Amino acid sequence: MNAFDPPNDAVEPVPPTRRERRRDRASRPWWHTAVVYQVYPRSFADSNGDGVGDIPGITARLDHLDELGVDVVWLSPVYRSPHDDNGYDISDYTDVDPAFGTLADLDELIAEAARRDIGVVMDLVVNHTSDEHPWFEESRSSTDSAKRDWYWWRDAKPGTTAGEPGAEPTNWGSFFSGSAWQLDEATGQYYLHLFSRKQPDLNWENPEVRAEIYAMMRWWLKRGVAGFRMDVINLISKRVGRDGSLEDGAPRADGWGNGFPQYVDGPRMHAFLAEMHQQVFDAFPGTYLTVGETPGVTLEQARAYTDPANREVDMVFQFEHMGLDHGVGGKFDPRPLHLPDLKANLARWQDGLAETGWNALYWNNHDQPRIVSRWGDDGEHRVVSAKTLGTVLHLHRGTPYVYQGEELGMPNAGFTSLEQYRDLESLNHAADAERLGIDPEVLLRGLAAQSRDNARTGVAWDGGPHGGFTTGEPWIGSTPGWEHTNAEAARADQGSVFHHYRRLIELRHTDPVVVDGEFALLAPEHEELWAFTRTTAEAQLVVLANLSGDELAVDLAELGLAEGAPLRDVAVASHAEAARPDGEGRLVLRPWESVVFRRAV
Ligand code: NOJ
Repeated sequence: MNAFDPPNDAVEPVPPTRRERRRDRASRPWWHTAVVYQVYPRSFADSNGDGVGDIPGITARLDHLDELGVDVVWLSPVYRSPHDDNGYDISDYTDVDPAFGTLADLDELIAEAARRDIGVVMDLVVNHTSDEHPWFEESRSSTDSAKRDWYWWRDAKPGTTAGEPGAEPTNWGSFFSGSAWQLDEATGQYYLHLFSRKQPDLNWENPEVRAEIYAMMRWWLKRGVAGFRMDVINLISKRVGRDGSLEDGAPRADGWGNGFPQYVDGPRMHAFLAEMHQQVFDAFPGTYLTVGETPGVTLEQARAYTDPANREVDMVFQFEHMGLDHGVGGKFDPRPLHLPDLKANLARWQDGLAETGWNALYWNNHDQPRIVSRWGDDGEHRVVSAKTLGTVLHLHRGTPYVYQGEELGMPNAGFTSLEQYRDLESLNHAADAERLGIDPEVLLRGLAAQSRDNARTGVAWDGGPHGGFTTGEPWIGSTPGWEHTNAEAARADQGSVFHHYRRLIELRHTDPVVVDGEFALLAPEHEELWAFTRTTAEAQLVVLANLSGDELAVDLAELGLAEGAPLRDVAVASHAEAARPDGEGRLVLRPWESVVFRRAV
């Protein structure tokens, strides 16, 4: 019997098969036709005026998600946490942090979501815990602790004295700047933390650790959750020992080594995931949605992770496309996007997972800047460019993820001074930049473009103070423009980004070509046009999108679209009056316009 197994015996399991009521999904997993909406609880809706979003706030806004039509809510962490990394540092996996509410509030959210046929997917953060988790507190208490081996403890490098520069067991840099090792004075050993020093890495080699985690996951399934989004799951198998290269990969300005090859997609990854599947998901009836967050994952690895025959995870978040505007100095040194690179990347993943595996499609999450500011136009063409970016993503094959506020076309936070930032990654980067003598203007430009805080401001619900996110003082500044860019205004306007996303989701639910159609990219080298087809034995969708602020003439014959049934029926379009081909097979797209035609084959 495991510590986690008994407590929620009284809770009736709510199998996520309820999701199958909406459509006939007999022939495929329900998540093939699903759209997932990510809620970042701290910034979604504040019900009690303390400036921090909470679970009752989410429950109160479920009708917004119901109207949008999403099938699943992925909840970023709401567990007990010291909030060093906004909840991605967990100190109790089976309780809710008081900042967000109670376990009873979460049960109510799950039940209210189920009433609307929406499943709740939890964030599973098990590469690391908080340093305030009782497991770590016990582990650090002495070198003889029964849980010492639950984390990665190492002596100083041979020939050095603990605490002196260069004594760290390896030269690995952490994702959040500085060394990935922290000396614990009490026992004189270092522990590994790939993220902040308050996020010590769990040792997955230890079977007791794995058993506890699986039991905890079963506990949540029993509570009625529809699956898990697995935080940095491809980092759980590590070879801890060797130094990382100082040259390979993106060399770090801070001089720490690149440990990536030792801890990304490590040797026991597939074994761990298969074991998890067997110990957790096979133990419950129903099918769940599992999505792994997998930084640095290759297409080949992703195919293995998502091959149903391997019984590991359903899909993974790949990161290649998110790096296409990172410059030589990394993400805070952005460079302009070259559209053909983005098209080619997504096309490569479409082709690569066409036969085996499945794609997760995303532009946004709590770690990325807002897409309309990043690759659209958040000025004059904000609404239409947000719609067109939504169209191209949702018309790819895979499961789309919508991040809160994306359906409103929310732009970046627009912060102009360091004091406005809250995220530890941004603040650590700023401290490093100061140490390295980087021009403060350059620093602020990098943060304004790429800081994770861009996506972490409160959702704008109405035109009131702080966009109605809170009646109090929000924990982070609000994105300007809520007076017009807010959910209330969007729902009342059929031409809004919201209604466009609603139509995209509806199209996926009703047109099997969106789900199954074979993908073919057209005009790959074109720098403004994003054109592709999706084709089944019965029908074809033709997607034509202008990713520029200029008018764009499209010659259908040049794209190989002149043959076959005429492009007449519009499945979805960015404008009420969509562009149509003239008698000569020419079609003119207005700035940022997109149109999807459907025809028989
Ligand atoms: C990925 C999460 O998305 C990010 O927000 C977090 O900081 C790291 N993993 C560490 O948990």
